[in-house]
Amino acid sequence: MDEAPAIQDAPAAPCARSPPPAGRPDDLPPLAPAYDLARRLAALLPGDLDHVFFAESGSVSVEIAMKMAIQFWINRGVSGRSKFVSFLGGYHGDTLATMTICDPEEGMHSLFSGVMPSQHVVALPRDRDSEAALDALLAEKGYEIAALIVEPRIQGAGGMLIHDDEVLRRLRVVADRHDVLLIFDEIFTGFGRTGDLFACQGADVTPDIITLSKALTGGTLPLSAAVASRRIFEAFWSDDAGAALMHGPTYMANPLACAAAGASLDLFEAGDWKVDVARIELALRRGLEPCRGAIGVVDVRTLGAIGVVEFEAAVDSGGLCQQFAELGCWIRPMGKVVYLTPPFVTTDAELAQLTGAIRKVLGVAEARV
Ligand SMILES: Cc1ncc(COP(=O)(O)O)c(C=O)c1O
Repeated sequence: MDEAPAIQDAPAAPCARSPPPAGRPDDLPPLAPAYDLARRLAALLPGDLDHVFFAESGSVSVEIAMKMAIQFWINRGVSGRSKFVSFLGGYHGDTLATMTICDPEEGMHSLFSGVMPSQHVVALPRDRDSEAALDALLAEKGYEIAALIVEPRIQGAGGMLIHDDEVLRRLRVVADRHDVLLIFDEIFTGFGRTGDLFACQGADVTPDIITLSKALTGGTLPLSAAVASRRIFEAFWSDDAGAALMHGPTYMANPLACAAAGASLDLFEAGDWKVDVARIELALRRGLEPCRGAIGVVDVRTLGAIGVVEFEAAVDSGGLCQQFAELGCWIRPMGKVVYLTPPFVTTDAELAQLTGAIRKVLGVAEARV
């Protein structure tokens, strides 16, 4: 039977009055994968993002982060804070609540428009005008907003849209000014993808909650986490069971998945992932830049181990996919972009094959590379 656990920094920590336990409880077996993984993640994440809640998919971890944010306010005796501010171009998952905070124009979910509760999906504060508009929204509607949620540095599935770190710093300032929480969805960016272990670290902005998945297990087994700061955790720490976060999925902190994540973190600790990301970024930039002049291409951009060729209109994904497959490459275009997010072990020869296939299919002359 599922139990509703308290928000935790170890699996199923019992409710108790403060202070919460520090360090590893003595009665845990020597290898407790969930506990060890939580401890390692807390050590890697910036600030006091120390309280780890595991789940089994990215979407579910975003749902948990949303529930945490809403219940944070309820537990503090503040009513009515049940909405979110998210951003145009954003993608946070396919479950019902996460669909509400995705870009509404995003093709996958348009069928459900009008069915789910509406959120405030607005422009990222890229400049003074959009920052002022966000500030005005929070001044007017802050009473109903639990949190802002953003994919830091790059909005992935919404079109590989890059923004600079100043945007994230503005979000932190605006969130603090209006006393709303800030959630970073690092399901795509976490574990080195943008060149820093976490985008928030590189940007020097600590959110109140961060979500992680995908590369957490190196993509081998399903696992995700919503990691909360101490301030959030303390709103749930109580003898009153009603204050606990009511979420307890069957596969939460699955030991096999946690062990796989532990093994993946070992590779991060032992390996030269930063060198590999820089190597991949250079190869993607050199290999894709010549596509800039190809018919229909409006932009070519790279960020860490992400390379993107953007077209003026949506591409024939199936047709292009087939042509790439005939050149021995699995590349799946998405909307208006053809993109590469290769694993960090991808060799230079493999990167050359991938970018060469894109150039060939776009009809870019090899002499220009
Ligand atoms: C930023 C972001 N959030 C959430 C998700 C959803 O994760 P999952 O597909 O594991 O549910 C994704 C998946 O692509 C993602 O990139």
